[in-house]
Amino acid sequence: MSNIVLCGFMGSGKSTIGQMLSKKLSMPLIDTDLYIEEKLGMTIPRIFEEKGEEYFRQTETEVCRELSHTDGHIISTGGGTLLRAENAEAIREGGVIFLLNVSEQTVLQRLRSDTTRPLLQRKDKEKAVHDLMTKRMPLYKCAADHIIDAELIPDKVCEEITDIFFGETHDV
Ligand code: S3P
Repeated sequence: MSNIVLCGFMGSGKSTIGQMLSKKLSMPLIDTDLYIEEKLGMTIPRIFEEKGEEYFRQTETEVCRELSHTDGHIISTGGGTLLRAENAEAIREGGVIFLLNVSEQTVLQRLRSDTTRPLLQRKDKEKAVHDLMTKRMPLYKCAADHIIDAELIPDKVCEEITDIFFGETHDV
């Protein structure tokens, strides 16, 4: 069976929905951020601070290559993971990609007091979210097989994803 892959902006609910789907469908969860943290033995803020963003992005690409060989998993990606075309291609080899779509306002509300996203640790958080989202949205849409309204309650988001996923044939 193919992987169910979740993509979208920071704060779109990928980790939460990933955990819920994993439980509901008894499919193991891989969270690429956690995977990278374990692989490097460092938290993401520390990786960005000590090694730099480019190093983090290279690691993301390696992880995507590794994950192209998995199946039957829920894969929750980082907000920047599928922006590189080669990452999206690798991930798509083994999975169906769902974009969790949320508004800038929702992101800002959810991440108001977050300290774990290096790209948003700025005074002008609103502008950072606006600029990144404007730049990324077309790329997310290009990478995704399906776009899901992630403003809905989490149960409904999970239901939509499972209905679409199991409404298609995913034997590999
Ligand atoms: C990032 C999103 C984060 C994490 C890193 C970079 C991004 O993941 O991978 O801070 O570039 O959007 P979440 O989307 O899970 O917050």
